[in-house]
Amino acid sequence: MAVRLVYTLAPYSLQNNDVADIAHKKIVLGVTGGIAAYKAAELTREFARNGIEVQVVMTEAARALVAPATFQALSGRPVFSDLWDARADDGMAHIELSRGKDAIVVAPATGDFLAKLANGLADDLLSTLCLARECPLIVAPAMNRQMWDNPATRRNLEQLRRDGVAILGPASGDQACGEVGMGRMIEAREIAEAVIGSLAPKLLRGTRVLITAGPTFEPIDAVRGITNRSSGKMGYAIARAALDAGARVTLISGPVSLAAPAGAEVTRVETAAQMFEAVKRNVAHAGIYIGVAAVADYRADRPRRDKIKKTDRSQLELQLVPNPDILAWVAARPRPPFCVGFAAESHNLNANADQKRRRKKVQLMVANLAQEAIGSDDNEVTLLDDQGTHRLARAPKTAVARQVIAHIAKLYGAWRRKAG
Ligand code: C5P
Repeated sequence: MAVRLVYTLAPYSLQNNDVADIAHKKIVLGVTGGIAAYKAAELTREFARNGIEVQVVMTEAARALVAPATFQALSGRPVFSDLWDARADDGMAHIELSRGKDAIVVAPATGDFLAKLANGLADDLLSTLCLARECPLIVAPAMNRQMWDNPATRRNLEQLRRDGVAILGPASGDQACGEVGMGRMIEAREIAEAVIGSLAPKLLRGTRVLITAGPTFEPIDAVRGITNRSSGKMGYAIARAALDAGARVTLISGPVSLAAPAGAEVTRVETAAQMFEAVKRNVAHAGIYIGVAAVADYRADRPRRDKIKKTDRSQLELQLVPNPDILAWVAARPRPPFCVGFAAESHNLNANADQKRRRKKVQLMVANLAQEAIGSDDNEVTLLDDQGTHRLARAPKTAVARQVIAHIAKLYGAWRRKAG
């Protein structure tokens, strides 16, 4: 079948869209002098990978721990440390660097730096930037457990909370000093996730979104079954992006080894039949249904309770019966939610996916090449809806998910207005 009008010929880049992605965002990443400063390098990379412009500002002590060149290479921008840096156009780096930023993130934030912030001290570039800021301030404390437990630190944190500063972590665990306890900086990926979540536009505020993710497992006998290579990464990224967009998310997940996205209500299932039951229980309140799960098309007719023994016979016959099509069922309800499907195809991607979209009567189908998407951290997808096809550039699944959610939010608004 011919695919209709292609309204975006070039892949739509992270910079060039009206989907209000976080890719336009600019942050200052302040690095202070804790051993965890090395983790800030990974954090810089996480931000850059998600298309966020990062201006790194280091304190003197941080420079003694990690070379600024590391951050310059990862952020693609020169690192600032000096209040009187001549590279600032008007000689006022503390003002210039904080303007037009969406957030200042200080990671790691030492006990000393938190004390400065709590008292409004401004004796170096980073503390002055924080005092002169017009944007949210997010800090990720990192210190020895006794410093963390010290009443002065507790007081400072209380003050910072009252001042509206967001505090991420710390975590408990092994510390650089050899002790074990509270004060370890949370991982770069967790910081990036929290910051990105706070920056993301709230395009689905309050909307209930029901998502299926992962593979299903259809038992053949006590120990064997039919499944597929779906990792659940795309579905979980979609859940994360929907949560970050302000949605209330119910995630029905097949067997995967991923941590539940914080904030989602998660139901774990194994078989397609269990997934179907969980969808039935939750669909009535959903405004949007997104079927990302790779549901097994067939299951064993009569799964055995015991383990099938090897015999002398040369062939073993297995009778398979089709599973219900959950997405098609949801879309055929009397008052269906806005329905989105994911189609993994090995060839004729757009034509096959569009055919599925029409057959299942869903508003949007997200198509990807099975051999490239499954298990990978990156994905390249095409969105097919009533207006045509819309190809997104290859990107991490987290970034793809945000664009898919932004596209869904746009279509959902129009669909609801049309439905009255
Ligand atoms: O397997 P298929 O390519 O048809 O999957 C396309 C979409 O349909 C996916 O969104 C998938 O979650 C959904 N689906 C379903 N129930 C099935 C098979 C697929 O909901 N039994």
